[in-house]
Amino acid sequence: MTNTLYLCCSAAPPVFDVARVIENAQSRGWDVCLGLTPTAAHWLAGSLDGLAALTGHPVRWQYKFPGEPDVWPAADALLCAPATFNSVNAWALGLTDRFVAGVAAEALGKGTPTVAMPCTNAALARHPQFEQSLATLRAAGVEVLHGDTGHTPGEPGTDDPGHFPWDLALDAVGRAAAGAGRS
Ligand SMILES: Cc1cc2nc3c(=O)[nH]c(=O)nc-3n(C[C@H](O)[C@H](O)[C@H](O)COP(=O)(O)O)c2cc1C
Repeated sequence: MTNTLYLCCSAAPPVFDVARVIENAQSRGWDVCLGLTPTAAHWLAGSLDGLAALTGHPVRWQYKFPGEPDVWPAADALLCAPATFNSVNAWALGLTDRFVAGVAAEALGKGTPTVAMPCTNAALARHPQFEQSLATLRAAGVEVLHGDTGHTPGEPGTDDPGHFPWDLALDAVGRAAAGAGRS
């Protein structure tokens, strides 16, 4: 049986690796559905058709209209990566005006195995809300890969966020799903 992974990406530079990451996840047996924040969808505007073809599912960044059917299969696991400072805080605070924030918020209540790998710079990571948001998500059952376990923030002032360890994120979501009997 193929299991479904919701890959939810926000607008940080590692999102430009998403095609390679989807192929990596598919080689691990995942059926991938790609969700994007509106800004990430804007950044990837030229690739959205190709990403839909690659996954075999519509790429989603907006809520459906009322009455429209769900176009994705149910999730067996969810990976939020790269998760921006903005998206981490919105998720933790339950601000679901964006499609992927709504999906990620619901995943907590559904008990979907969920992993997050934030991507911020060091200045944003020192904002007092950020640690609170990570603590809130961890308390809700999210495996948060940050710092030593995930992406290490660099100092601000560059568009390059440094190495983003996508393989660690895919390893973690595979373990989380297996631990929950979903793989
Ligand atoms: C070139 C560039 C790089 C950026 N890198 C990051 C980043 O690594 N982390 C982050 O939290 N925000 C980063 N931002 C800012 C986010 O894109 C911005 O806060 C955006 O509103 C995030 O929206 P989203 O969370 O809905 O995707 C970057 C912006 C630009 C233009």
